[in-house]
Amino acid sequence: MNPTASDALVFFGATGDLAYKKIFPALQSMVKRGLRVPVIGVAGRSWTSDQFRARARESLKEHGRVDSVAFDKLSQLLGYVGGDYHNPATFEAVRKELGSARRPTFYLAIPPALFGVVVEQLGKSGCTKGARVIVEKPFGHDFGSAQELNQTLLTAFDESAIFRIDHYLGKRPVQNLVFFRFVNSFLEPIWNSKYVESVQITMSESIGVQGRGAFYDQTGTIRDVIQNHLFQVLANLTMEPPIRMDTESVRDEKVKLLKAVLPLAVNDMVRGQFRGYRAEKGVAADSKVETFAAMRLLVNTSRWQGTPFYLRAGKHLPVNCTEVVVRLRRPPLLFPLCTVPANYFRFRIGPDMTIGLGATAMDPAERMCGQEVELQVKHHPTADEMDAYERLLGDAMAGDASSFAREDYVEEAWRIVDPALMAATPVYEYEPNTWGPSEVDQRVSPPGGWQNPVVAAGAGLEISS
Ligand code: BG6
Repeated sequence: MNPTASDALVFFGATGDLAYKKIFPALQSMVKRGLRVPVIGVAGRSWTSDQFRARARESLKEHGRVDSVAFDKLSQLLGYVGGDYHNPATFEAVRKELGSARRPTFYLAIPPALFGVVVEQLGKSGCTKGARVIVEKPFGHDFGSAQELNQTLLTAFDESAIFRIDHYLGKRPVQNLVFFRFVNSFLEPIWNSKYVESVQITMSESIGVQGRGAFYDQTGTIRDVIQNHLFQVLANLTMEPPIRMDTESVRDEKVKLLKAVLPLAVNDMVRGQFRGYRAEKGVAADSKVETFAAMRLLVNTSRWQGTPFYLRAGKHLPVNCTEVVVRLRRPPLLFPLCTVPANYFRFRIGPDMTIGLGATAMDPAERMCGQEVELQVKHHPTADEMDAYERLLGDAMAGDASSFAREDYVEEAWRIVDPALMAATPVYEYEPNTWGPSEVDQRVSPPGGWQNPVVAAGAGLEISS
C-alpha cells in the first residue's frame, strides 16, 4: 500500500450538480475497485446522512447504475456535514468527522468564488496538515485572478499538494494522443509543419447550458472548455517528447509548448451565442457571453511554424462529439485527371475513441482515379472502464500529479486567451442545432473548411479493439 495515499476524501459542493453527475458515480466505481476510506460530503444544506445517501442513490440511478453490493459499502463510508462555509463550526464538524484520518484529500467541487473562504477555514481548523486539495476548473477568470487563486491555495497547501483538475486529462483518448504519437515511429517524421497543413479541434455539444445559466453567464465557452480542455488536447498533440516520462518532465513539456503559443488575436476569433440563451434562468437579458467560439492559434516553434491550429467549441450544436483532424499537405499532382484530397488523421475523444486515417485509394473502376477512404480503429467505452473522474480522484488520492495542471501551465493558458477576452468583441447569434454563426466560415475557417463530426457509424474499415 502507498504510505502517502490519502486516508479520507472530503468533497465540498456535495449537494451540487457536479457531485450528482460525476462524483457519486466515480465513488461507487472506486469502491468496487477497493476504496475503503471515509468519504465526507460538505454543503450548505442541513441534511442528515440518510438524506445524503438517498441523494447518492438518486445520482447513481440517473448517471450510471446502482450496484447494490458496492453501493452498500459506499453508504457505510459516506458521512455528511451541513453548514455555512464562512462558519468555523462547519470545519470543526469536518475535523470531527475525519476521526483518525491524517492525510485527507479535500475536493473543492464548488464555484471558484468560494475557494478562498474554504481554504482559509480549512487552514484555521487545522485540517490541512498532511492533506491534499483538488480544485475544479476554471482556475480563476484570467491571468491575474489565477495568480491570486494560487496565492490563496499556497497559504494552506504546498504546490505538491495542489491538484488542479481538468477532467479531459483523465480521458483515455486524450492520454492516447501522447501515447500514439510517441510509440508509433511512422508519425514522428511527418509530425511537423512540413507535412501537417493544419489541425482542427472541435468540441461539439448538443446540450445547452442545462440549468447552469448563472455559472455559464460568468464563464462562457472560452473559459469553460477552450482555455482548459481544448488546450490540453492541443498540448498533447504538439508538445515535444519529454526527456523522461516522470510527472514533472511531462508537465515541463506542456508548459514549454504553451509558452510558444502566440496570444490569440481578436481577428482570429469568432464568438457566438445560441438563440434563446438570454431566456435561460440565471442569464442576463442582454448577455454578451459566448456559447460558441472558434479561433485560430499559432504555435511558434520550429516544429509548428506554418501550421495553423483551429479550435471551436459550442453548445446546442448538431452532435455530441469531440475530435481532432490533422490534415496533411497534398502530394504533387501526378494524376491530372483526378483531384486528390488531403490525407488526414482523425482522433476522436468522445463519445467513442476513434483513430482514423483518411487516405485516397484507387477507384475500383478501370480509371486512374482516386476514392477517399478512412481506415478506422474504434473503441466504445464499456461500463466497467474507469471514467475520467474516477481515474483523477484515484490519482490525486494516491499523490500522482501527472494528469493535473501545474500552476505555470494554467497561467500560460490565460496569457494566450486574455487579450482577446478583454477586448469587447461582438457575439453573433446562431440557430440551435447549427454549426455556429456564419461569420465563422468567413473569418476562422481552416484550409478545406471545417470537418463537421459525423457520429453515426461511417464508411471505412472498422477494426474493433
Ligand atoms: C465541463 C464543462 O468542464 O465539460 C461543461 O463545464 C461541459 O460545460 C463538459 O459540458 C463536457 O465534458 P465532456 O466530458 O462531456 O466532454
